[in-house]
Amino acid sequence: MFNRITYKKSIGVFIFVILSVFLFVTCTSNNQPHQPQQNQPLITPAAFSSYAGTASCMGCHKDIVNSFMHTAHFQTSRKADAKNIKGSIEEGKNEFHYSDQYTVKVEKKNDTYYQTEYVNGIAKVAQPIDITVGSGKRGQTFLYWNDGYLMQLPLTYFTSLDQWTNSPGYSNRITFKRPITTRCLECHSTYFQSLSSINAFPEKFSTQNIIYGVSCEKCHGPAAEHVAFHTKNPQEKKGKFIINPATFSRVQSLEMCRLCHGGRLSKTEPSFSFKAGDKLSNYFKMDSAITNLADMDVHGNQYGMLAASKCFKMSEMTCNSCHSAHENETGKTELYSQRCKNCHSTNGYACTVKGISEIKNNCIDCHMPEQPSKAIMVLLQGNNVPVSASMRSHFIRIDKEATHKFLVTRKNKG
Ligand code: HEC
Ligand code: HEC
Ligand code: HEC
Ligand code: HEC
Ligand code: HEC
Ligand code: HEC
Ligand code: HEC
Repeated sequence: MFNRITYKKSIGVFIFVILSVFLFVTCTSNNQPHQPQQNQPLITPAAFSSYAGTASCMGCHKDIVNSFMHTAHFQTSRKADAKNIKGSIEEGKNEFHYSDQYTVKVEKKNDTYYQTEYVNGIAKVAQPIDITVGSGKRGQTFLYWNDGYLMQLPLTYFTSLDQWTNSPGYSNRITFKRPITTRCLECHSTYFQSLSSINAFPEKFSTQNIIYGVSCEKCHGPAAEHVAFHTKNPQEKKGKFIINPATFSRVQSLEMCRLCHGGRLSKTEPSFSFKAGDKLSNYFKMDSAITNLADMDVHGNQYGMLAASKCFKMSEMTCNSCHSAHENETGKTELYSQRCKNCHSTNGYACTVKGISEIKNNCIDCHMPEQPSKAIMVLLQGNNVPVSASMRSHFIRIDKEATHKFLVTRKNKG
């Protein structure tokens, strides 16, 4: 999370919070208009009509749906409403001052939330919050529809600061005119239908044909045919017309996650055409991936960091060795440690640090410590050094510093 943030809240003094945030990621620096390519893409995204939507799974997979609804994946994009907008709209807590004259406030009018620009106290531009992006674990960014184009709103909510700040990548000026890329949506939703050609920027989207959240059909493929078949054939006990990742090879399994957890990748085919089970290299330039550990960031490249670990190199490990797709297991250290012990309980494989009783319940704080991100940083006015957000490192290793920290924390606890 954001460490050591202090700032003075004095009236009349404005604070610049400049966020150079890769978190809100890859896409932000990818804003240059592109020339349309001459060659048409070979692959086109599946039609919206081939998707069934998450609600339709409920009838036959109720337990999975109920549990899945609590995951960050499901919650990572939503149609905005009072329940899922995280930041406060209470007077005094609902604003960000760009300067003495310029302020943006978040306000509610007739059940709709707006971000409004005020100049010397007079309302100028106001746009509604139509879509939330981010589960809110670390933060949330907001989008609005502008004639089929999706634009990012000036203020982003940062959870650990519990405040509205200038959206990442924005310079210290107010703009309502920043369009969002499809790649941003591809990582944060299941389906948006682009109405433009592959390299057009900005792209126009259908405002209707949307599946919010990284949901079922992202990992199981479009499922309309599956639903239709099983609705018609309730006696059939074997799943038909559906992708089951349990049958994937190791590479297929990893690439399904790497689509969004493999750092910055340049696409060669339209966003939303990759399906779970496909080869990533048919859709992205793989030489655009960062493969040097020193250049990887804890944010956004779990795949790269994991792949550099001995665990990964010397076993058949996938992301699913530790993560389960349908549950929210955030913070369940003991459960994660159990998954380490699935491989590390036998002699010769076990931990060689002895005599610490917590060791069996917590393998991760010493071997996968939280680490400050070089990409997610907050710079406060008056500070020269930006403050980083910390994230779990997926480079599993023996780490003296982390071990020392663990032992000190333990001693302090008594
Ligand atoms: C009308 C009932 C019905 C609906 C609706 C339904 N399924 Fe299924 N599904 C089944 C049956 C029956 C099976 C086979 C038994 C099982 O694995 O539960 C199955 C199996 C599956 C499997 C495992 C496939 C395998 O090879 O074992 C997946 C994945 C799946 N469904 C995903 C979905 C998704 C995603 C949705 C919503 C878009 C959905 N299902 C909606 C009936 C349904
Ligand atoms: C379509 C893009 C996409 C795919 C595919 C994807 N993820 Fe994610 N994942 C995300 C995004 C976006 C978040 C951040 C969600 C948020 O907090 O808003 C996330 C968050 C997570 C988290 C953190 C959950 C938490 O509670 O903080 C885990 C763990 C995770 N993903 C694992 C996986 C695994 C394992 C796979 C492959 C089976 C996978 N993801 C596939 C986009 C994706
Ligand atoms: C390559 C995939 C990818 C792209 C592109 C991407 N993100 Fe993300 N984003 C992620 C993943 C994965 C996470 C969470 C895990 C992490 O930080 O490594 C995340 C985290 C976030 C979070 C924090 C969620 C939370 O509550 O913790 C926000 C907000 C966010 N992204 C917004 C955006 C926006 C807005 C865009 C486009 C302008 C964007 N992202 C582009 C993959 C992506
Ligand atoms: C991030 C990827 C991901 C998402 C999102 C996802 N699943 Fe799965 N699902 C998997 C994986 C991976 C497996 C295989 C698990 C295994 O290896 O045993 C699976 C297995 C299944 C199965 C087979 C039975 C089982 O439990 O193993 C069903 C049914 C299923 N998923 C339904 C759903 C439904 C319904 C949703 C949405 C509510 C959903 N899945 C969302 C990745 C995902
Ligand atoms: C799928 C099996 C598997 C899982 C799960 C697994 N590991 Fe490993 N790990 C291995 C293998 C295999 C090695 C290499 C052993 C050897 O050197 O022969 C290894 C090596 C290590 C090493 C030594 C690294 C080095 O650079 O010397 C550490 C530390 C470690 N694992 C910790 C963990 C922790 C902590 C977890 C859980 C977060 C975990 N492992 C999960 C298979 C696994
Ligand atoms: C050896 C076990 C292990 C493997 C394999 C693994 N993870 Fe994790 N992952 C963890 C642990 C432990 C955490 C921290 C969970 C917590 O504290 O809530 C974590 C956290 C995460 C987070 C949230 C990071 C944060 O700080 O918010 C994401 C995203 C994630 N994993 C994605 C992946 C992806 C994608 C893969 C495959 C490329 C993967 N993980 C493979 C153990 C693993
Ligand atoms: C207090 C920090 C700490 C905790 C907690 C911890 N480890 Fe370790 N682990 C270490 C250190 C330090 C080493 C290297 C010790 C040495 O130099 O012999 C190590 C070594 C290892 C090794 C390499 C062993 C070898 O043969 O080279 C593995 C595997 C391992 N740990 C796994 C685990 C697992 C699994 C857990 C949870 C059950 C765990 N560790 C918990 C600090 C820790």
